[in-house]
Parts: sequence; C-alpha cells; structure tokens
Amino acid sequence: MTKDFPIDLRSDTVTQPTPTMRKAMAEATVGDDVYGEDRTVNRLEGVVAELLAKESAMFVPSGTMGNLICLLTHCGRGEEVIIGDQAHLFLYERGGSAVLGGIHPHIISTAIDGSLPLSAIREAVRPDDIHCPRTKLLSLENTQAQRGGLPLSLAYLQSLRDLANDLGLALHCDGARLWNAAVATGVEPSVLSSPFDSLSVCLSKGLAAPIGSLVIGTQSFIDEARRLRKLLGGGMRQVGAIAAAGLIAIEEMRTRLTIDHENAQFLAEGLCECGYEITHPVQTNIIFFRQHEEDSLSLKERLAVWEKAGLLVSDFRNRTIRAVTHYGIERKDIDRVITILQKV
Ligand SMILES: Cc1ncc(COP(=O)(O)O)c(C=O)c1O
Repeated sequence: MTKDFPIDLRSDTVTQPTPTMRKAMAEATVGDDVYGEDRTVNRLEGVVAELLAKESAMFVPSGTMGNLICLLTHCGRGEEVIIGDQAHLFLYERGGSAVLGGIHPHIISTAIDGSLPLSAIREAVRPDDIHCPRTKLLSLENTQAQRGGLPLSLAYLQSLRDLANDLGLALHCDGARLWNAAVATGVEPSVLSSPFDSLSVCLSKGLAAPIGSLVIGTQSFIDEARRLRKLLGGGMRQVGAIAAAGLIAIEEMRTRLTIDHENAQFLAEGLCECGYEITHPVQTNIIFFRQHEEDSLSLKERLAVWEKAGLLVSDFRNRTIRAVTHYGIERKDIDRVITILQKV
C-alpha cells in the first residue's frame, strides 16, 4: 500500500483497504440485501456467526449502529442497561439508546483493568420496586479502548456469565476489537464470545476493511435486530461490494494483529526511554501516555508541533495522548515516531 506522510497513529479506524480487498470488492457477487439476496453478505454473516459460535449474524454499517441495535433489541423504553463509565457506548455514541430507545443507562466505574467489578454490578441491579426502572442488560467492552485496549480475562468473562445468570440479566459485548483480544490472550474468538447473548464486532478497525460491523446472537435475536436495522435506515442493498472486503478482513487480517501489538510494545518502550508515563499496560494496539509535566506548551500546541514534524496522535483529558498502531504502520515508522519525539 502507499503510505502518506504523516504517520497517522490517531486510531486504527484510519486503515486503508488492502489491495486484495479492493479486488474482491470490484469482483463481488451482489444482490438486494434487504431481500436477503446478497450472496456475499450472506456468506460474511455465516462466516462470522460460525467463528463466534452463535446461531446468526447481521451486517451493519458501523459499530455504533451494531451496539445501538443490540441495546434496542434487549431493552424496552424505561428499562436499564448497566454500563461502564469508560465504555465507548456510554462516552461516544451520542447516547443513542437513550435518545431513540428510552433506555436508561446505569453507569458504574470501569476498573483499571477494563473490567466492571462484580460487586458493583450486583449493587447496580434495581430491586423489584415500582419506583425503579427494570435492569435488563449488562454491557462490557473487549478490548476496553479507554483502558489502553486491555483485553478482559477469560476467567472474568466466565464469572460475568454466572453473575448475569444469577441476576437474570442479558449480557452484551462491544467487541469492536474482539479480534485484538483474541490475538493478545491466545483465546479463540468463539470462546471469548461464548458468555455473551449478543455481540457487535467491527471489521473497519485493525482489520482494515473500509466499512462494516456485525451483530451476532441467537436466530430470534437477529430476526428482531433485522427489524430494528430497517427502522434505523441501516438496511442496505447491493452491499456485497463492501462485505467482500469484510470477508478478506476476517479471513486474512486477524492473525497479523500481532504485528500491531508488537509495534505498540516497541513504541511504548521508546516512549518510556523518552521519559513519558504510559498510563495503562500495553497488551494490544492502543497506547495512552501523558504529556511531560514540564512542557510549556498546551496539549493542543504540542500535538500541532508533532503534526508539523509528521506525527498524528489523539488528545484526551488530563494531558493524555493516544497512539494506536495498525495496518500500514511498520517498525520503521515507529522508529521515526521515536525520533520525532526525541527531537521535537
Ligand atoms: C470500542 C468501540 N466501540 C464501538 C465503536 C464504534 O464504531 P464505529 O466508529 O464503526 O461506529 C468504536 C469506534 O472507534 C470503538 O472504539
């Protein structure tokens, strides 16, 4: 692929489709997917359902729509979802489930390892009382992006399922980067998905597809989700042209995520050598680090200086900076990033 100057570490969403994806897109067999007649979409949905060992899957344009559809499928108006304060679903999805579904978010603190403490979940569940909303759903994120892309441990996931059974809750996973979690933990996606009643997974992050996510669950869950996708305007027509790239993403791009994880480690080491504080352990492709205390520039000014030198990163609160490694970023790019950080 061609690499444009500067080195863009703002997110893994900036990845460009691979040459194989572009070819597959051009040659894809397509049909009307709202009629269920797009053979490429049907194949992608079948492949992902099988990979995650669930009955069915549905292609959607984005992770945001995938999460929204799952919440709307699980919860009615005035019902409650328990969710972490660092969840993408809570922070960055426009409160869609509250706006469109009247779903009440019950926010609890996300632990430093990305988990939601079991005791806090238990405490958050509402009593059977006419004053309270009914708690219906518990939502987790794996990997947890705001906790430095940390994957959740298998033991924790299993204890979540037991707790959800005990409390009578459904369990949803925002698995935008489930693929990174699988590679980092060495646990099969089908095992990571097994505790959950529904998942939303993305093709357009580290897997480099240009567009697309999938919602996964039982057949009856997906039947209902399809009605909601139509309601939201997410029913697409000859969308096999995009699903074709998604198939390449699933079949060819998952194992190479280890390269992104190694590059993230390498960058973290370089940042430490330059005296930066890394705020979360780096286990996948996301690194959060803090601007030097003694830097006289504001964070915005610092990022503008780096941008001029050829480096793009994202800024967050408390002088925190995010760098994400992804397809198209190679070891020599990380070397160059470290040189920029040392020199500028
Ligand atoms: C953890 C997580 N969930 C969901 C999303 C939403 O995905 P999309 O941008 O496709 O709507 C993102 C986007 O970056 C994300 O990082």
